[in-house]
Amino acid sequence: MKPGILGIGDALPPRVVTNLDLESRLDTSDEWIVRRTGIRERHHMDPGDSLADLAAAAANAALLDAGVPPSAIDHVIAATITPDQLTPGLAPALAAKVGLDHAGVVDLNAACTGFLYSLEHAAALVESGRARNVLIVAAEALSRITDHEDRATAVLFGDGAGAVVVGPIEEGPGLAGFEFGYDAELAPLLYAERDTRKLQMAGQEVYRHAVARMTAASQDLLARLGLAAEDVDYFVPHQANARIIAAVADALVVPHERVSFNVEWTANTSAASIPLALAAAQRDGHLEPGSLVAMVAFGAGFVWGAALSSWKDGPRPAHNRAAGRLETRSR
Ligand code: ACO
Repeated sequence: MKPGILGIGDALPPRVVTNLDLESRLDTSDEWIVRRTGIRERHHMDPGDSLADLAAAAANAALLDAGVPPSAIDHVIAATITPDQLTPGLAPALAAKVGLDHAGVVDLNAACTGFLYSLEHAAALVESGRARNVLIVAAEALSRITDHEDRATAVLFGDGAGAVVVGPIEEGPGLAGFEFGYDAELAPLLYAERDTRKLQMAGQEVYRHAVARMTAASQDLLARLGLAAEDVDYFVPHQANARIIAAVADALVVPHERVSFNVEWTANTSAASIPLALAAAQRDGHLEPGSLVAMVAFGAGFVWGAALSSWKDGPRPAHNRAAGRLETRSR
């Protein structure tokens, strides 16, 4: 069966932390944060809140959007680096909250690239016939592993959850291609230690590698699929910093109107950042059934990846001839 994205949902904790809130307790300013990162606000969970609850809210919204009942989900992948407990993982708890009685449940840790790896695994399960519908939930509580006294990182991270249902599609290219890579030698530039559990980052170096790797991964994937950047309707890069997103878009020669800058409202939510941005893009009318969307991510590891998919395949917009070419080739 050809795999595609059937539906999407998202959930953010109600507590909004604005730049002015941070300005009142750290040596920083709204002006600095907006100019250097593009971030205006982020959502933080409260102590005692459960990430499984947030993940379940996003999952329920995705199931509703897909029109798939919980009983039809065979497998759950939870992409996260911040589960409620060290063990068990997030997937069993969220599956129980959603009422998935017969699903396989597993956590996946690939930091900011976790959602794209989950998409590839889900696509493989559907394509091979080992599962009919797979629920992916990417959920993070980065506020739990942020040093809130360190202005260099405290302003950058937020909490949130995004979910998609991947299942069989009859028309359109669906989840058409992936590209992944890693460089473990550079791991010391971005990490959180087991005991101190606080994100540490060499900001400028991470910035440089993020731009280079996300640009190259997107170019390699498009070239392998025989597509040009102008064939893609909408780009959703990992939402870490608006300047990184703009630099990648400029290197790919993609106008900023066709690129997500959702980081403004969520800050960096690691694995959750791409599905949160996809959900916002659908709400804002940037994604319609049949649109071609390119996603690209980079994070701790370093681990990076890119993916190309048609959006909730249905009648394709006449203007996207590339989707037609891809579909013919993938039959
Ligand atoms: N408010 C005010 N000043 C600040 C702040 C702040 N919040 N943070 C740093 N500064 C100061 C620094 O101290 C420095 O001052 P100095 O010149 O007197 O020494 C100055 O601002 C410039 O600091 P830089 O670190 O050079 O600032 P830069 O423009 O590089 O921006 C940032 C820093 C935003 C962290 C950027 O480097 C970045 O976005 N890096 C990549 C982040 C990223 O992509 N992470 C990816 C994944 S995260 C994950 O996987 C969970």
